[in-house]
Amino acid sequence: MDARVTGTGNNRALVRAVLGIAIFVVLTALLFLVVGDGAYAWIKAIHVIAVISWMAGMLYLPRLFVYHTGAEPGSVQSETFKVMERRLLRAIINPAMVATWAAGLWLAWRGFAFQGGWLHAKIALVLLMSGMHGYLSAAVRRFAEDRNEKPARHWRIVNEIPTLLMIAIVVLVIVKPF
Ligand code: HEM
Repeated sequence: MDARVTGTGNNRALVRAVLGIAIFVVLTALLFLVVGDGAYAWIKAIHVIAVISWMAGMLYLPRLFVYHTGAEPGSVQSETFKVMERRLLRAIINPAMVATWAAGLWLAWRGFAFQGGWLHAKIALVLLMSGMHGYLSAAVRRFAEDRNEKPARHWRIVNEIPTLLMIAIVVLVIVKPF
């Protein structure tokens, strides 16, 4: 059987995800050593890069589910969607979420001492986004085992939730309305 649909592919994706996080941690430590007090702007840049990667995956994964729902279980098309979904989740979405949280919590501590209504509301919405992430991860497992029972319409609706959360989060952090 193709290594991409076996445990070998799984392990490689996991190693890459762990490596990605390790590189992120080392680069962050180097940043502190090199730029010292200027670190806030650099960490914010890393935060925004991680946010873009996380959101790209969170918006694309339910769209893949819409197409996957229409593919016959066991067909080449269905197996290809499984590989795409697993790789997107493990190589991009998971490490990007960890990096977003790590950099975001550091910014909230260093810049705002965890104070501010906008920040509390933002963290609450990011918790909802993380719950959505968990829901989509579970769906990747169900699709991998050909156990998805939800129609394409369900995944189209689910696709809108990260979009709405993202809009509210960005307005909160940029406008800081309260
Ligand atoms: C729990 C996780 C998160 C925490 C604690 C957090 C916290 C923060 C903090 C404290 C800042 C700096 C604000 C400033 O300097 O004015 C920031 C910047 C930013 N965050 Fe987050 N964040 C998190 C997740 C997210 C997510 C999920 C998104 C988008 C969907 C996001 C989007 C942004 C953007 C666009 C900026 C730049 C804002 C600016 O430069 O004015 N953050 N975040």
